[in-house]
Amino acid sequence: MSPERVVVTGGAGFLGSHVCEALLAGGAQVVCVDDFRTGSRGNVPDGVGVVTADVSRPLDLLGPVDLILHLACPASPADYLRMPVDTLRAGGFGTYHVLELARRKGARVVVASTSEVYGDPEEHPQRESYWGHVNPIGPRSVYDEAKRFGEAMTTAFRAEHGVDAGIVRIFNTYGPRMRAHDGRMIPTFLRQALAGEPLTVHGDGLQTRSLCYVDDLVRGLLAMARSGHPGPINLGNPTEVTVLDVARKTIEVTGSSSVVRHVESMTDDPRRRRPDISLAREVLHWQPTVPLEEGLRSFARTFAG
Ligand SMILES: NC(=O)c1ccc[n+]([C@@H]2O[C@H](COP(=O)([O-])OP(=O)(O)OC[C@H]3O[C@@H](n4cnc5c(N)ncnc54)[C@H](O)[C@@H]3O)[C@@H](O)[C@H]2O)c1
Repeated sequence: MSPERVVVTGGAGFLGSHVCEALLAGGAQVVCVDDFRTGSRGNVPDGVGVVTADVSRPLDLLGPVDLILHLACPASPADYLRMPVDTLRAGGFGTYHVLELARRKGARVVVASTSEVYGDPEEHPQRESYWGHVNPIGPRSVYDEAKRFGEAMTTAFRAEHGVDAGIVRIFNTYGPRMRAHDGRMIPTFLRQALAGEPLTVHGDGLQTRSLCYVDDLVRGLLAMARSGHPGPINLGNPTEVTVLDVARKTIEVTGSSSVVRHVESMTDDPRRRRPDISLAREVLHWQPTVPLEEGLRSFARTFAG
């Protein structure tokens, strides 16, 4: 039997490149579809086929496809605020074209959604049954609403075309290959700590985050791919920490002499974020295992500043 052929859209990005690596290690034949707008060729592991394409345009690939992991979309606020229309296109049209590909190939497809579909949540922790609290015209809406549209499209393809599609709602994930300047909290703190600069905390820093190490997340994503479950299923680390705590832990693990500096709060910045992962535990037998200090240490070791 020929090995399973898996397409990873966004395979040149942070999460996608780790997914490609794990799939290769499991013996799959892997194809990365990416237009490199926020990812890089250097992230794609050797042995992975590369197709340069913008997923927001019609997509076709030669040969059979057994599984698609759809991760292509700008994900960091700095990226999606720089390209708001393209972010809506990737999350909206891109998800449509990927689902079309899955329909034509008869492939299972897992669509990466996000905890941002919950917006600034009024329910805590967030269960999959919560509908969210999103400002449709706020600065984050290009990302949040594109992902919400993507979820609706995925659900429609299951209902109308019988596509074996599943949705995962990914919560903040960090680890090697995040870009030092991508604007997300952990690489920003690491960069500042390693340079001996003040760590910039927005507002009072008492807003919370739940941070999942990339290896844990990839395990969950692949379990979802194998499960045949429609989702949505939350994937994230349920340990809640304040942003201030994350800053202090970063200073500690890097042995930095940096201090914390409070700066202006960000518009529509969620106050609290914590996944309820009961469903992932039950259906995927999955839960994160890497504590924050350990994950920060691993990331710091490979961090290129
Ligand atoms: N990292 C997280 O904490 C997190 C949290 C929730 C959801 N997600 C989702 O996971 C996915 C991957 O996120 P990431 O953190 O690895 O981001 P990333 O920016 O590192 O990777 C995204 C990849 O998609 C590619 N891409 C973007 N738009 C494209 C397009 N139109 N056509 C083809 N390729 C395109 C980029 O070039 C890049 O390689 C995204 O869908 C994101 O919404 C990530």
